[in-house]
Parts: sequence; structure tokens; C-alpha cells
Amino acid sequence: MIRKYIFGEPFETEAVVEKIQEEKGLPSHGEVSLEKGFTITCHMEENDIVYGLGEANRGINKRGYCYVSYCTDDPYHTEDKRSFYGAHNFIVVSGSNPFGLFIDYPSKVTFDVGYSDQDVLTISCERADLYLYVIEGESAYDVVRQFRRIIGRSYIPPKFAFGFGQSRWGYRTETDFRTVADGYRKNRIPLDMIYMDIDYMQDYKDFTVNKDNFPDFPSFVKEMKDRGIRLIPIIDAGVKIEEGYSVYEEGVERGYFCKDEKDSEYVAEVWPGDTHFPDVLNKEARKWFGDHYRYLIRQGIEGFWNDMNEPTMFHCDPKEEYKNFYHCVDGKKIRHDRVHNLYGYNMTRAAGEAFERIEPGKRFLMFSRSSYVGMHRYGGIWTGDNHSWWSHLLLNLKMLPSLNMCGFLYVGADLGGFGGDTTRDLLLRWLALGVFTPLMRNHAALGTRQQEAYQFGDTEDFRGIIETRYRLLPYLYRVYVKAALEDDMYFKPLAFAYPEDGFAKEVEDQLMLGDEIMIAPVYLQNAGGRYVYLPERMMFVKFWKDGQHSEQILEKGHHYVEVALHEVPLFIREGKQIPLVPAAQCVEEIDETEEELIGSW
Ligand code: GLC
Repeated sequence: MIRKYIFGEPFETEAVVEKIQEEKGLPSHGEVSLEKGFTITCHMEENDIVYGLGEANRGINKRGYCYVSYCTDDPYHTEDKRSFYGAHNFIVVSGSNPFGLFIDYPSKVTFDVGYSDQDVLTISCERADLYLYVIEGESAYDVVRQFRRIIGRSYIPPKFAFGFGQSRWGYRTETDFRTVADGYRKNRIPLDMIYMDIDYMQDYKDFTVNKDNFPDFPSFVKEMKDRGIRLIPIIDAGVKIEEGYSVYEEGVERGYFCKDEKDSEYVAEVWPGDTHFPDVLNKEARKWFGDHYRYLIRQGIEGFWNDMNEPTMFHCDPKEEYKNFYHCVDGKKIRHDRVHNLYGYNMTRAAGEAFERIEPGKRFLMFSRSSYVGMHRYGGIWTGDNHSWWSHLLLNLKMLPSLNMCGFLYVGADLGGFGGDTTRDLLLRWLALGVFTPLMRNHAALGTRQQEAYQFGDTEDFRGIIETRYRLLPYLYRVYVKAALEDDMYFKPLAFAYPEDGFAKEVEDQLMLGDEIMIAPVYLQNAGGRYVYLPERMMFVKFWKDGQHSEQILEKGHHYVEVALHEVPLFIREGKQIPLVPAAQCVEEIDETEEELIGSW
């Protein structure tokens, strides 16, 4: 049961695609106050669990902290932070009377989930102009499924995007990229993508390629593709101000950049120096910006990552600056801070809509840093600039089901950690989680220790783990496509699969994947294994580095399982089977006719 309430004059975010009749009167859950902006207050029972909020800090159960939906480029994801890059305003209170709320409001929303008062959920925003959706269901999972249906089908990537990708901020030349390709191929570690960070561009200008470093870009793209490797360039939000640069000149001529109060193009500093922001909230400008992706697609590119689209601005207080520029939406001038959370969404929508015009029906790889609900129809997300910290491996795991609840299925973190120096053991353990995340990408910041899988001496352990991904890949892709087509989740909290199980409710470090398996990665330094809770009898499988695996039946209950650094652990539910294929060096080389089934004893 979904009820839609309208307050004031909401901005049309297009997060929800299904037509729902407006409900008059007061919401069926919570108490609304319009005294100071908008506030809804709901009582929580002692044992209620609160799910949702997508890309947010802390646990799967959000209870006990305060979260702020306001897309923020903050590269220090410490436990005290309240905002990350995404704004996903869907929250579910699970208990004797499960319900969900979606606050469709494009600026800052505060979710106090039992932080000020342990029994009270308070959601507030500055202006009372919003759509409020109240969803009642039989269970938290049922509430999520209903929500997913009204926001439209999640993005489905091409199959190669389930391969493993290597990225690093700092690869500049053809030689740098060849070195990475050689490093993987020579060591027989599978690889499908190498990401191109900002240095492939000419002076950080979007839709340009540095001619000195890539004298014949289309042939270079082809050379890599012939080796089974796609190049995936980054696109940033800010367009460099430079005379003679056609993207800049066209944008100014057509009035497609964000303006300041006096109607001049607004100037913000990002990587290229002074830039303008394409006004992607304006339909025409969105189309214009999206069409530029064609420049790289024509040269053989089949995937992109959109960055700096909160949008980021250097040397200022962005929160203040967001009040100083404007969008033009249907002829109306709208101050950025009022629609702030929609920028990354619409930049990615620009790309997604353009792909449909450029090559209808073809699947492109697309993911973004900033997002709002609705963007899940056009691409995935990566969770931004994490650190090479063990705590971030666990945070990565906890965010996954929450992101799925909000529609984001193609998700992943920078494996090994972006900021700071990784270590061999951390990277191995993180890759063993990455085996299961739809986006499996190793990415690191400029100036950090080399982090490619062949940089740590003996490469066998890395090969074994990444090969495991390829052995499971046809299965994982099938689970993904099914989840997208059925508005379902790829990763679920254990409680969604075992709602009656008291222990399952509290599990924060294991996830259900599809209908057949459970994952329980090791996330502690120097741990030779971990404790795991089995809500039913399961087959404990460990994938070894020589292409073999072990199987052991474990009874329902608590267990300690040993997992060596080179092993990938996995649990199969009783009566279920999953297919394995022989490992391959890239997705195209996977032989799906060689399927072997494991499980179901
Ligand atoms: C941002 C991105 C990061 C990228 C860097 C340089 O910090 O989040 O992934 O490597 O910019 O483009």
C-alpha cells in the first residue's frame, strides 16, 4: 500500500515514475509539523530495525545516528560523518507494523534515527515543498519491493562490466596503460577494464584526449580491446573555461551553463582551473551535454565514470557557494542549493539518455559518484574516496544492501582503498568481497603505493581470487539481471531472507546474495578466519587458488570458520545450486558451456 502526500510546491525530481493518486489528509504514519519547514516524527518500538538511506555511514541498521542527505565531496569517511556523495531518502522502519518513507525533496534532508531520542525517528527539511510517500507492507522486504516498483527499473550494465577493472589516478600515457595490461596478462590475472582517470584528457578538458600521449586514440582503444580490455574514461562535471575549446564555447553561446545572480556564467574551480557547470537540470542543456559522449564513443569507448558531480568546487565553502548559482528549469531560475542533490543524477541521466540516441539498445557501462534516487535507472555508483583502512572494507559491505533498497544495484567501492597506502593482506581480503560486488574495481589515489594486483611479489593469491570472480561471473550476472528485471535486491540483509530468525536480524557483516548464497568476508587484520552465523544448514565453500574448492556442510547456528588469505569463502543454502565455469582472462573468453553445478546435497 503506497500513499502519496503533497506538501507545498514540490520540485519534480522524477525519482518516482509510477503515477500515484494524491492522498488528502494526514499521513498514515508519523506526525507532521509544518511549523519550521517540514518535519515528520515517528515513534519506534524498542526492537524496531531501521533500514535504507543507501549510501550512508554506519550500519545496515541505521538506528542510533543522524544522517544528512546532502551530496558532499568529503574524502574522509570517518565514523562521525553524516553526509557522503549520494542522497537516498528512503527509510524503512521494520517491526510489528513495517512501513517506509520516501522524502522526495531535492535539497538537504536530516534523518535523526533515534540519535536525539532513542525511540524517535525525526525527518526534517528546510522548506515544506515535497512529495512524501508512505509505504506499508507485510515486512521490511515487502516495503522495499513496493518502493522499487514505483521508482522504475534499475540500470543493467553490459556483461563485460562484471569483469575486473584496474584503475589509478596517475596513468597518463599509452605506455602506462600498456604496462598495466601487460602486468595482468603476463601474470595471467584476469582483467576486463582499465579506467582512465583525468590525465588522459588535454588539460582536464571533458571530451578531449591528450594528443601527445595518445597520437591515435581509436587504434589504441582497439589495441586494448583486441587484448580483451576496455578503456573506461572519466568525465568530470566542470567544463574548462578556455577560448577555442568547443564544449566551452558552445555552452556559453547556447546559455547551457549554470548562471550567477546577474545571469553571467557561474565560475567554479575544479581540476582544470576555472570551469562552468553544465546546467544538466535543463532539458536542452542535458541533451547537449549528453551528446558530447559521442566524441569518445566514436573512437570505440563503451563505458564511462562521471565524477566531481556533487558538484565539487575547490577553495571555497561549497555549502555557501551553492547559494550563488542557478539552474534554468522550464524557463524558471532555480537556486542551486534548492535542488542540490539532483546534479549528479542529471549529469548521469544526460549520459544515459544520450547512449539511447547514439546507439539504441546497446548497453554502456556507466557509473557516477554523486546520485539521487532516480539515477539508478541510468547507471550505477561507486562509493567515492574511501581509504585503505580495514574499517572501510566493512563499511563497503554494510552499504551494499542499503544501496540496493534505493535502486542502486551496480555498485562497488574502490577495492584496496583509494586514499593512503594499502597492504597486501588488506587488498586480498577486499578483493575477496569484491568478487561479489557488481562493480569490481581496484582504484587508488595519486601518490599512494602501487596497488595493482601484480605489485605484491607472488601473484598467485591475487590470481586465485580474481579467477574466482570469473568462475562465478555468469551466475552473478544472471542474479543481477533477474534482480533488476524484478525490482528485487541483489544483496539483502539476512533478516530479509529469514524474517523469523532473532539472530539474523542483528547480523551486520554477512549478506544474502540472490536466492542461493550468503557471503561472509573476512574484514579484520591478521584474522585467519571469522565467526559466522548460519540461519539454516548451509554448504560452506572455499575457493582455492588452483581452481579447486572445498565443500563442507555446516549446521544452522554459530561457527568459527578458517579462511586463508588466498581463499574466497561462500555459503550455499540447502537445496540450492550455483553454476561454476572455468576461469578466463576476460569475460569474452568465458566458456559457459562448461558449467558445473555445486551445492544441493
Ligand atoms: C576524485 C575521484 C577519484 C579520482 C580523482 C581524480 O577524487 O573520486 O576517484 O581518482 O578525483 O580524478
